[in-house]
Amino acid sequence: MTQEINWELLKDAAVKAMQKAYAPYSHFPVGAAALVDDGRIVSGCNVENASYGVGLCAECGLVSNLSMTGGGKLVAFYCVDGAENILMPCGRCRQLLFEHSQVGMLLQTVSGIKTIEQVLPDAFGPRDLAEGFGADERN
Ligand code: THU
Repeated sequence: MTQEINWELLKDAAVKAMQKAYAPYSHFPVGAAALVDDGRIVSGCNVENASYGVGLCAECGLVSNLSMTGGGKLVAFYCVDGAENILMPCGRCRQLLFEHSQVGMLLQTVSGIKTIEQVLPDAFGPRDLAEGFGADERN
């Protein structure tokens, strides 16, 4: 489904999510928001833990929000830090996003708009688990 991407709306949703972050250890709040292929917006914030290593990135909340509100494919993604600047998703979160992305999902990055395939090249994904499918046949 082709649709116009309102980046300002996505940024606003990411900032609102960031304001809900629970980051008492890093003091580094993060908010992420994404447009879904049916037009809705999903979002999430980071939620840290006294056991530092089990803290959840904002993207974890976002993909949980995606499933909880009906699933679908992510079309566009925006992530911000506490200063409302664009933040790159960490490596693990690129994988999380890839799983639920539409081919060519767009991200605002520190070096302009890019696709999920550009920020996670030669990705391992669902199709690699399906017998008879090559790496270039994700969807
Ligand atoms: N963080 C995210 O929420 N998403 C990312 O993609 C990068 C890092 C969080 C994890 C931790 O709570 C804080 O930022 C500092 O690393």
